[in-house]
Amino acid sequence: MDKTEILRWLRETKESRLEDLWLRADAVRKEKVGDAVHLRGLIEISSYCVRQCGYCGLRAGNASLERYRMSEEEIMQCVADAVEFGYGTVVMQAGEDYGIKTEWLANIVRRIKAQTPLAVTLSMGERPVEDLVAWREAGANRYLLRFETSNPVLYEKIHPSLPKQTYNRFDLLKKLRELGYEVGSGVMIGIPGQSYEDLAHDIELFRTLDLDMIGVGPYIAHPATPLGQETIDLTNGNQVPNTELMVYKVLAITRLVCPEANIPSTTALATINKTEGRELGLCRGANIVMPNLTPSQYRRLYEIYPAKACIDETSRQCRGCLWGRIESIGRQVGSGQGGRRRS
Ligand code: 5AD
Ligand code: FES
Repeated sequence: MDKTEILRWLRETKESRLEDLWLRADAVRKEKVGDAVHLRGLIEISSYCVRQCGYCGLRAGNASLERYRMSEEEIMQCVADAVEFGYGTVVMQAGEDYGIKTEWLANIVRRIKAQTPLAVTLSMGERPVEDLVAWREAGANRYLLRFETSNPVLYEKIHPSLPKQTYNRFDLLKKLRELGYEVGSGVMIGIPGQSYEDLAHDIELFRTLDLDMIGVGPYIAHPATPLGQETIDLTNGNQVPNTELMVYKVLAITRLVCPEANIPSTTALATINKTEGRELGLCRGANIVMPNLTPSQYRRLYEIYPAKACIDETSRQCRGCLWGRIESIGRQVGSGQGGRRRS
């Protein structure tokens, strides 16, 4: 699929044709990654952040947010939950928090790898290469770092760089690959100022970068952020809308462009359609769900965007419900780590 075709699908409005796109994406998903839905337990280990991303509620400038950093024992308790619930992976995510010391996290990774069969994914922001090396040596398997948008002007606007920073996200993604991580990236859909051309180029980059994991979700305005104050100008025909439909289009096209990638049906998608967003995502290209294992007292503080949807996997009722939802669409919960397959 070339850029012209990607653009045509992004602008497609006819329902019967879109129905076709969903079916194609679902067929490719089934053929390339199968019917298993792999569960990755998300542990939001710290809400501190030194960055000033214009869209993100955790930005350092948001003084109204109470911050937390989990203790090693709290994290290990969540890890034990992941094992008990039968997940294959834990994802530890945080703001870019240098209070998370390199060796402290390396030690936790070593403990998880020594004591459990889990794959370990990290999502710690743009840390120095030495940290990425240390965590990889400790046994971390995967790293998530979305590039958010491939338009450099828009990126710099929404994601101001730190004073002495000499690398960019694409350099880091390359570095992560060299270090032997499975690499995940992705973008937000409908950022104010994001054009169809930008988004089509993002999707082409997913292919060029040969990503193992691709996370895409709608941009959701957070009132305590600069970008959250801007209105999205939908009268401008170039602006990508941050709608549910646009997310499905991007999910489906992404599956066609990167047939073997692991693609989550994201929390942001579930947030804008709490009744069936997650399931529809799974039927239009996605094959991963990331239930939240963060202890409840911290969960409400990890407010990247407002009203974040959540499967509370620590509650027995919710867990049954997730299993039921996956089976209701003719799929099964996957076993094992569910890493990248290559044919
Ligand atoms: N709306 C939607 N997604 C967001 N993220 C951060 N802020 C927002 C927002 N306001 C996404 C970014 C980041 C991921 C962890 O969460 O893409 O990489
Ligand atoms: Fe740092 Fe979002 S600005 S996590």
